Amino acid sequence: MSTPQITVLDAGGQYCHLIARKIRDLGVYAEVKPSETPASELTGRKGFVISGGPDSVYEPGSPRIDPDILSTDGAVLGICYGQQLMTHVLGGGVQKGEKGEYGFARFHGKPHPLFANLNGGELQVWMNHRDQVQTPPEGFDVIGDTATCAVAAIAHRTRPLMAVQFHPEVAHTEQGHQILANFVFGVCGCVKDWDPKDRIGPIEKEIRAIAADRNIFFFVSGGVDSTVAYTLCLRALGPERVFGIYVDTGFMREGETAYVRRLFQQLGARDFRAEEAEAEFLKALEGVVDPETKRHIIGEQFVVVQERILSGGQFLDGHWILGQGTIYPDTIESGGTAKADVIKTHHNRVAGIQKLIETGRIVEPLASFYKDEVREIGEELGIPAEFLHRHPFPGPGLAIRCLCSETVAPVTRSDPGWLLPIRSVGVKGDSRSYHSVLALEGLPEDDLATELVNAMPDINRVVGLVHARVGIGEMRSSRATLTHERLQRLRQADAIVRQLSEESGFDREVWQFPVVLIPIGAGDQPDSVVLRPIHSVDGMTAQVVRMPRELLHGMTHELLAVHGVCGVFYDLTHKPPGTIEWE
Ligand code: XMP
Repeated sequence: MSTPQITVLDAGGQYCHLIARKIRDLGVYAEVKPSETPASELTGRKGFVISGGPDSVYEPGSPRIDPDILSTDGAVLGICYGQQLMTHVLGGGVQKGEKGEYGFARFHGKPHPLFANLNGGELQVWMNHRDQVQTPPEGFDVIGDTATCAVAAIAHRTRPLMAVQFHPEVAHTEQGHQILANFVFGVCGCVKDWDPKDRIGPIEKEIRAIAADRNIFFFVSGGVDSTVAYTLCLRALGPERVFGIYVDTGFMREGETAYVRRLFQQLGARDFRAEEAEAEFLKALEGVVDPETKRHIIGEQFVVVQERILSGGQFLDGHWILGQGTIYPDTIESGGTAKADVIKTHHNRVAGIQKLIETGRIVEPLASFYKDEVREIGEELGIPAEFLHRHPFPGPGLAIRCLCSETVAPVTRSDPGWLLPIRSVGVKGDSRSYHSVLALEGLPEDDLATELVNAMPDINRVVGLVHARVGIGEMRSSRATLTHERLQRLRQADAIVRQLSEESGFDREVWQFPVVLIPIGAGDQPDSVVLRPIHSVDGMTAQVVRMPRELLHGMTHELLAVHGVCGVFYDLTHKPPGTIEWE
């Protein structure tokens, strides 16, 4: 592999990998290195980008650069914190901000090679900073401003040093792509030496560099991201140095553990172990009904199991680092946009693992990639396409699709239908709701469900009864918790739905198809099944998908044959107001 033409100096921000990726997309080999990397290790680079970061240049311990970087032959572009750091190092003034500036701004740029080929000198840019440059260093001019930031871009008069306060690498900055291209080609004089489709080689190289002589252990979930990341590590270090652990919580779908084991064997894993933990998860969740409490307990139990594995396997002794399947959108969700009310808690990053992260003993080979790229990489690695295009499945698994109830209560009549004595999670605006479910007899052709949810503040979800063994008025809720028996019932129902959807091709028309067990039934059939096929692009919003009649008929027939199942409902609620999952 040749020397990278551009090095992105990571100053602690979430975007350094994105910057490198955007440059590689331009056909130029770019890498990411810690900001403090000595200039002597970076000879031959045509340019450097100093990334953004959350710190203030005045804080002790904030990221620094080797000042010699600013006097090599390579050009330097500072971005956000990078602009402040360049200013600080060269003797300019940075003003400590109290409130900062977050979001869009109109930027006015002066003529400069960095802003060549833009449509006019004015563009919408994305800002995300607290401090800002007050006085540019000696020899620099201000080459751009916004209404609230007088020094939004600077450049040296004679040397190739320049910086911007905004983020050209994010999609929200208009023509940011052109600005990066101007820097890479116009300022640095890079030539194309990179095929953006060839991603595997450099990822493997990066894994080897990070791991050095240490081995990697992975908690694999059977999801696409962790599987692709794990496979990359297997290839980079060889199977003797990569250990995979899969925690079987008991909330997996039918045949899942065996499937994952087979898949990993095919991918060349030798050191793979499934940790059987159903009993302890069920014990921790005994008697729990509330969805958030469930998620919380599952997250904590994960920590307990992971920590047991970590200490039992001597993984903390310095010879091992942790591999994770974090992808680019995960890093933005956990860092940048904390604004939206937490609708459902996710447990990707447990506290026990924070220590490894803090001490840098972690490798996240996919941290700069989006989902579609992860799938492409997976295909290149020879992971079966059917696996890579599986529907998303939530971390807490079937536990959040198996509703529980503390009370025995009848289904009651309401003007437009029947009220089921259970609650499900929904989302209105940015906040979470936990409301009753309205059931209609049969499936209306039109969008009656949306009208009803809008008209009735106390419900957030409408279902249609497809068929039940008794009249809906005879059904009631029962006291129900998470038990092996109920999970087995749900697993069976889910397997039926999955098989029939696959055989009929219906699974390709939906983005996700949760199957939910609700404690509504009669006699010795205490539960019912809810079908929730939806279409979505990213899970943020979703539309109900109607199933062909014959398929629904056949599916219902088989579901009603499952022991303990009294009825089959169809969820008619879009998101919003209903979330995709019921809890
Ligand atoms: P909701 O139910 O919020 O779901 O509309 C949106 C998407 O997120 C998935 N989901 C989860 N994934 N852990 C996960 O890993 C969770 O706790 C979780 N909750 C929801 C859900 O399956 C859907 O794709």
